[in-house]
Amino acid sequence: MNKNIAVIWGDCSSPEIVEQAIRVLDKVAQKHGHTFTYTPVAMGGEAIDKYGDPLPQHELDKCLASDSVLLGAIGGPKWEGLPGEQRPEKGLLRLRSGMGLYANNRPAKIWPQLAAASPLKQEIVDRGIDFIVVRELIGGVYFGEHTTKEVDGQLVALDTMPYSESEIERIGRIGFETAMKRRKKLTCVDKANVLDTSRLWRKVMHRLQEEYPEVEYSEMFVDNCAMQICKDPSQFDVIVTENMFGDILSDEASQITGSIGMVPSSSLGATSCGLYEPIHGSAPDIAGQDKVNPIACILSAAMMLRYSFDMAQEADEVEAAVNAVLDQGLRTADMMSEGCTLVGCKAMGDAILAQL
Ligand code: IPM
Ligand code: MG
Repeated sequence: MNKNIAVIWGDCSSPEIVEQAIRVLDKVAQKHGHTFTYTPVAMGGEAIDKYGDPLPQHELDKCLASDSVLLGAIGGPKWEGLPGEQRPEKGLLRLRSGMGLYANNRPAKIWPQLAAASPLKQEIVDRGIDFIVVRELIGGVYFGEHTTKEVDGQLVALDTMPYSESEIERIGRIGFETAMKRRKKLTCVDKANVLDTSRLWRKVMHRLQEEYPEVEYSEMFVDNCAMQICKDPSQFDVIVTENMFGDILSDEASQITGSIGMVPSSSLGATSCGLYEPIHGSAPDIAGQDKVNPIACILSAAMMLRYSFDMAQEADEVEAAVNAVLDQGLRTADMMSEGCTLVGCKAMGDAILAQL
């Protein structure tokens, strides 16, 4: 198959991980007779430096014309002082919304080899950690109204959190469908004791529930969920939640699996053209030092193969290669533990390639 992949090399340590992911994709292509072409796209800090805009329309257009987008991570101290509209993060938000990617899928699964790196007690880890956060990605407070104005001599800031029934329904459906393909348990996470948007979420979810009688459906307040994720994560299969709650809970969920450097994500909308990115940031503190963990980016590429290109076998092989290098005891600094071998980003890439 021929696939055109838009590649956002990203900022700080991001190009280092993207490079390894592309080496892996090239190896997969060579082995299975595919042709992957890569179209570089500037977004975030790189685009601010080149064009004074974190995602110019011509760069978004390249993504829209692609079969899918691979992203490392964007942002860094260099661009931190900029006003909201010009920040690197704004490019990412515009990309997600410009591509209509409303469903963000963030798996939290413990790799048995990394159990010792989890901050949770062994007995909790032993009960198993294998759930997915299905995060609504292009609505809510991220895309509401944002203003700061002076009222009676002081500044007052306002961020609104709008959700329509149709926005909730399409992501709620993804939640139920995802649960149907797994252990058939869905938890809707909200703040229905306080927020109108959450009460509307529940109303829509109850309607959907009737279409999925096989799914064991429950609801949980977000504060309680944050607590339950560290108390007993084994209770979760699929969590469906609004944009900001999903942002926060998915960071928590990734950490209990050992390292945020291991967690990939997919973002999809109405078509098979998706965005695939690690959930971690651009790690400016270790940029250029060959220390960053490339695995989340490599696993994101594997998710692209599986979900956008229908290449399940190829994706399985990449995931098995990652599993094999963990078995060999190779670790980057973020997930290092006693008795393992510390390797850099490139050596980790080399080891994964050697398995393919
Ligand atoms: C994420 C990030 C982004 C988000 C930032 C960079 C805007 O934290 O992908 O989780 O909040 O969505
Ligand atoms: Mg986040």
